[in-house]
Amino acid sequence: MERKPLRLRSASCQIAYWQDGELRIANYLARREFSANSATLDVIRFFFAPRTIQDALVEFRSYSQASVARAILQLIDAELLLEYGSAAWEQDEQVKSSWRPWLPEGAFHFMTKDTPYVRPDWPIERRLKLLPATPAPPQFKEVRAADVVPLPSHRMVGDTFFKTLHARRTHRDFARGKISLESVSQLLQTTWGVQGYFRTNAFGKLPYKTSPSGGARHPGEVYLMALRVDGLETGTYHYEANSHRLARLPARASARLARAYCVDQPYCGRAAALFIMTAVFARTMWKYGRARAYRVVLLEAGHLCQTFCLTATRLGLAPFSTAALKDSLIERDLGLDGISESVLYVAGVGLRQ
Ligand SMILES: Cc1cc2nc3c(=O)[nH]c(=O)nc-3n(C[C@H](O)[C@H](O)[C@H](O)COP(=O)(O)O)c2cc1C
Repeated sequence: MERKPLRLRSASCQIAYWQDGELRIANYLARREFSANSATLDVIRFFFAPRTIQDALVEFRSYSQASVARAILQLIDAELLLEYGSAAWEQDEQVKSSWRPWLPEGAFHFMTKDTPYVRPDWPIERRLKLLPATPAPPQFKEVRAADVVPLPSHRMVGDTFFKTLHARRTHRDFARGKISLESVSQLLQTTWGVQGYFRTNAFGKLPYKTSPSGGARHPGEVYLMALRVDGLETGTYHYEANSHRLARLPARASARLARAYCVDQPYCGRAAALFIMTAVFARTMWKYGRARAYRVVLLEAGHLCQTFCLTATRLGLAPFSTAALKDSLIERDLGLDGISESVLYVAGVGLRQ
């Protein structure tokens, strides 16, 4: 049977920028870059409709066949030309359609996934070498002012709210024991649980939670990796916020995986549970069709994490948070496409030492 000729199409997830006098084109979904010239730009433009290599040889017949073929192979290698109908092409299409209102700015989300990290086992001298040679910027700002008003000192002795706020610290050492299912339940309910609903004329019934959310869209989801929870089988669960239940997922759970998810930071593997925070972007994007709303999604993860840390502190537990994540590994294990729903942040908890 005769094979159909390969049909190629230019990736939609492309962004171009100048760097050190060179025009760089990146496939931001594949995180591949390419140094372009005017001829390769013409090839990329030509392939915005699906075409074969033969079509390109005819179109660019004023160039040598070898040079056109070389440019096409380089563009395939840089994933700027995709095989029409392939898995990479389908993912590219999915980003183009589901992220349309937030593109091209939304490219930032994809370009910053799976960043290489400084390894925690590197000696401090090696890590310091990666910092700029200039001194760190000042930690505080003081403005020149004609008047400076000293403020009264704040009395908060005995008030549990302020005590909890001041007691919150990032913990990286934990006792070996299990945390209770009741604590896990309180952490989930207080941070991500639905506290109630309110009616709106335009948007119907909307949930409210302890954290604010732009337009009450609540894009955040949370997955629990339970490692040492008394009364709960070791496993990975999705928290069903509206019914306050845990749905078990097929994903494995282990100290080794917890550590791997958090870019091999050893303390994450010693936690009793991880709370993996993701966002379903469409909830916010549906109402806010400007890319600025991407900031809202990130800001909200910060609100949720602070509530989590304070609740854990109030419960006498040892919380932490980390943004150093192997995004694609986590998303693959949780069965997320990383496009409509993506991991943003991880919080964890253990028993205090
Ligand atoms: C967004 C965010 C990301 C963080 N990522 C990490 C991390 O990857 N690893 C880590 O050990 N700590 C991480 N931290 C914790 C900070 O190092 C910690 O908050 C800081 O040292 C101040 O200490 P404190 O939380 O006890 O006040 C992160 C904190 C925030 C807010």
